[in-house]
Amino acid sequence: MFKIGIIGCGRIVEEGHAPAFKELIKDVNVVALADTAIERCEKIGGILNVDRAHWYTDYTEMLKKEKLDFVDIALPHFLHEKVVIDCANAGVNIISEKPLATNLKEVDHMLKAVEKNEVILAVLHNYRYQPAMKKAIEITKAGVIGTRFIIRSEGLGGSHYAGTGAYDPDWRTKQNMAGGGCLIDNGYHNIYISRELMGADVVSVYARVNTYYHKIDVDDSAFLLLKHSNGGTTSIQIAWAVKAGGQGVNEVHGKLGSIFFGREGKPLGVFLNEKGTWEYPDVSAIPQNSFTGIFQDIFYAVEKGEKVPTDGYEARRNLQIIMAAYESARKEKVVKV
Ligand SMILES: NC(=O)c1ccc[n+]([C@@H]2O[C@H](COP(=O)([O-])OP(=O)(O)OC[C@H]3O[C@@H](n4cnc5c(N)ncnc54)[C@H](O)[C@@H]3O)[C@@H](O)[C@H]2O)c1
Repeated sequence: MFKIGIIGCGRIVEEGHAPAFKELIKDVNVVALADTAIERCEKIGGILNVDRAHWYTDYTEMLKKEKLDFVDIALPHFLHEKVVIDCANAGVNIISEKPLATNLKEVDHMLKAVEKNEVILAVLHNYRYQPAMKKAIEITKAGVIGTRFIIRSEGLGGSHYAGTGAYDPDWRTKQNMAGGGCLIDNGYHNIYISRELMGADVVSVYARVNTYYHKIDVDDSAFLLLKHSNGGTTSIQIAWAVKAGGQGVNEVHGKLGSIFFGREGKPLGVFLNEKGTWEYPDVSAIPQNSFTGIFQDIFYAVEKGEKVPTDGYEARRNLQIIMAAYESARKEKVVKV
């Protein structure tokens, strides 16, 4: 049974992490909470049954007083660096929200502290665990649609995911707190997903990144063309600028067939070229909450002494591609990664 302290008890902890911890009651025990806004400790303490004697407005106090196996960090991006380093120096294993930081320099400081203190760092690339995505990854890995060469990954929305009102609901729209806009926040997921579905890493990126609609100092739309090491291409479209909402297209095309997400109202459709038929795999046995799946895999990996699903180096690689996309947009050039 792992003892966990949460640092940052905001919206995603309420909507994603806390329900997952409740589902994983046999593996984990959330014993302490830290948030500068005490009402957030109260909120999450109520959901996870954590007594007020274990609520902290200063996470360093929590690190001193509690015996923790892991911290779960869900703070605005710009706060991750200092908190991860403090936790590593306190000898506590770390689960961190994505992106690991707002730039690669911060990530390198974090990785240095993690290495020095020999603690575990796992980063929440949780979209890999959404039921349809998990199944699609299994299908591609099993070779069912053959070598993949085109991926479409599109999520056009009208605004950012607002943080809790107890802090600053719009921190995501501020460069100094978020390090970018919809690309670093949402597009981050599309990138690791496309790398996984293609089964090949990204070797270069061409991007257009704009602020078309909102009066904010970060991007509200991003368009990326990724070249993968197998020659395949991913196109990503992501936005906070489309009030009507886009059609949420997700497709993977391979030499033997294709995978469509959400076709005919089904989570997943698989087209087999040779047969010319569609199949609709059942995904109902996979946990609905993607955090349940990733937390479970992290804890199982640690129990067995194996590598965690997404470590700090993998998170760094994903952020490197984001940074290359911003550079590409600035220079209007293809950037190698
Ligand atoms: N993986 C996903 O699907 C996903 C989804 C949403 C958010 N996130 C990530 O989770 C993180 C948090 O996002 P959110 O939407 O929950 O934000 P939020 O603003 O709702 O929550 C942040 C919390 O941190 C607290 N906080 C601020 N400074 C603090 C400090 N110094 N010490 C302790 N607590 C402090 C705030 O009071 C607030 O409660 C971000 O990195 C975001 O990218 C990931």
